[in-house]
Amino acid sequence: MHITIEEAIQRLQHGELVAIPTETVYGLAADARNAAALQQVFEAKQRPVTNPLIVHVASQSIVQHWVADFLPLAQSLAEAFWPGPLTLVLKAKKDVLPIVTANQPTIALRVPAHPVALDLLTQSGLSLAAPSANRYTQLSPTKSEHVVAGLGVHIPVIDGGPCQVGLESTIVEVYQDADGEAQWQLLREGMIGRDAIETVAQQAPVSKQKITSAPGQHHLHYAPQAALTLCHSRAEMLSLAADLAAESKKVAIMSVGEIQPVKGCYMQALPTEPMGYAQQLYGALHLFDHANVEVILAEAPPKVMVWSAIHDRLGRAAHSTPLGNP
Ligand code: TXA
Ligand code: MG
Repeated sequence: MHITIEEAIQRLQHGELVAIPTETVYGLAADARNAAALQQVFEAKQRPVTNPLIVHVASQSIVQHWVADFLPLAQSLAEAFWPGPLTLVLKAKKDVLPIVTANQPTIALRVPAHPVALDLLTQSGLSLAAPSANRYTQLSPTKSEHVVAGLGVHIPVIDGGPCQVGLESTIVEVYQDADGEAQWQLLREGMIGRDAIETVAQQAPVSKQKITSAPGQHHLHYAPQAALTLCHSRAEMLSLAADLAAESKKVAIMSVGEIQPVKGCYMQALPTEPMGYAQQLYGALHLFDHANVEVILAEAPPKVMVWSAIHDRLGRAAHSTPLGNP
């Protein structure tokens, strides 16, 4: 069900859920100060309550309502990358609802860059907890129709068009170590790369990870229904496709750049540069899911830093067991 920003504000102020566009992926938003509304987010997504939520705020000045100490290192990152696809994990204030943080001492915050999300945050005066607007373990939505397909027609959605970034935000934790020094570590890769963060932070991330990743980063989170095989050359991909087609499998080919059509295969040619590829990746995987494809053969993008977040998501999709397959 598509709704306007005005309707969305009313609903959110009454403790209801609304799916909203952000520049990364669509989020399922609720008032971050309303425990009953937040409970509904977990129910709609069928997500375990041990997985904390990201809180979206209108501007840097709102951060002080949520965090105990906005460390200068975190402020520099916010200054450089907000509004934008960077989530900061910081020490939470004591009055933050435990359902937001999953009872952890930290809270995840970001100022999104999508004009609709920013209007909504500014006009409503709310901070919005919004995980990706998909069922737990399914693909993140990058178009409003993905939200409807995944969560059902009864979920109100503001249609803000296709997401420009297309992958979930980079998550960085900033904290004070035992010596009182500010440190940072990467909890989830995204299109803001490690090197860009390091340049602004003017220090390297902690080498020994305090925790290995954000708590909710199960492989299945980023997985399509079909099994995904990463192919290291186009020749390998085409020969596998031929073998699988001979076994009457429903096969999809996802190439980096243009490719000749292959008989009997679903085809998606993704851009040869990482920003365009990231923008279109989940859309391609959603299409394959919709067509009930059994095997996705993905041509591996170049193994260089600017493709790192894409490799991360492709790797997660490849390592997960296809759903419905014991
Ligand atoms: O781009 C995005 O980040 C999107 C849009 C809607 O903003 N949101 C998103 O939310 O991807 P979600 O819930 O699907 O992923 C957020 C991740 C989860 O893995 C969660 O465990 C982690 O952030 N997270 C949230 N709070 C955290 C915290 N306090 N410490 C560590 N990880 C946290
Ligand atoms: Mg998610």
